[in-house]
Amino acid sequence: MNTSLDVEQPVRPARLPPPSDVLGVSTAQRRTASLEESIRRDPGRFRVLTGDRPTGLLHLGHYFGTLHNRVRLQNLGVEMFLVIADYQVLTDRDVADHLTEHVEGLILDYLAIGIDPGRSTIFAHSAIPALNQLLLPFLSLVSVAELSRNPTVKDEIAHSRQSSVSGLMFTYPAHQAADILFCKANLVPVGQDQLPHLELTRTIARRFNDRYGTDAAVFPEPDALLSAAPLLLGTDGTKMSKSRGNAIALAASADETAKLIRGAKTDADRHITYDPATRAEVSSLVLLAALCLNRDPRLVAEDIGAGGAAALKRTVTEAVNEYLAPIRERRARYARERAYIRQVLRDGIERANTVAETTLKEVRTAMNALY
Ligand code: TRP
Repeated sequence: MNTSLDVEQPVRPARLPPPSDVLGVSTAQRRTASLEESIRRDPGRFRVLTGDRPTGLLHLGHYFGTLHNRVRLQNLGVEMFLVIADYQVLTDRDVADHLTEHVEGLILDYLAIGIDPGRSTIFAHSAIPALNQLLLPFLSLVSVAELSRNPTVKDEIAHSRQSSVSGLMFTYPAHQAADILFCKANLVPVGQDQLPHLELTRTIARRFNDRYGTDAAVFPEPDALLSAAPLLLGTDGTKMSKSRGNAIALAASADETAKLIRGAKTDADRHITYDPATRAEVSSLVLLAALCLNRDPRLVAEDIGAGGAAALKRTVTEAVNEYLAPIRERRARYARERAYIRQVLRDGIERANTVAETTLKEVRTAMNALY
């Protein structure tokens, strides 16, 4: 989640783990293992919904945190819906700037990493009226106390630079439930910070079914699929975020990447090791190289050894640029086909609208509000 006004996209790997199982993390972890097993056996049983706020370019923190997991699920044969959460941008800022640019940029990033619009539906939630209408009955199913207990929202409010908390900030987790439930998704790949939202979604689904249910449940209770998100820091050793100038965007050029890594923070010890607990900055660079090279970070560190920060940075730069080269090439190719990008979005919106209208009809039928 965004934790301040200008932080672009969530960097889930950098979030601190909760002190106990308040977010249900260990439960979700246990469940994730058995879900992975079922997905491999029968991917057709699952429908995924996940997405992003259109606030800027996606970067390597997103990529190794969640994006690459989405492509994996898609390629396993799981049906996927990707929401571009444009209304949600307004939770912690007054206006959503450069919306068209950010929305199209997200689609370019998605296609470049291997999301296939033939198999995955990409849409913006503001364009789906029936999805948004679900918010009203959903809000009737949650208490103000429940909304105010949400630890992720509390954290965002604490970090927000806005002087007052808007009603949208307070209620967007219920809107997120509409994002998930309009298409009856049963699987939501998320980082730990999103678990409270998913818990609320499950509560809403359960209460709706209980309150209005006939024989068949209208909504599934979706499961969280936690990705084993590695802890990638920005090049200054703090949380990776575009607005801090410490993030390597998927769309950045090889030169921009080299420059960012050249300026990355390291430490005085010339001998390179992988020790995230005591050497956060150096270890994060080693990890980045290891992820790109698909190697064990300890071995990457060993190979650099006494080469020092300069050799480390050379290794990281080469690994990242080589890994991202085909992604960047595809992105540049799609960027020249703006009409195609618009069409992908229009097609996704059309499909999402059809699905949302069907669900809304079921909801209104269950509520005896179909006239
Ligand atoms: N809250 C998510 C984020 O900040 C974006 C999002 C909106 C989302 N709706 C969603 C994620 C539904 C998962 C499911 O990145």
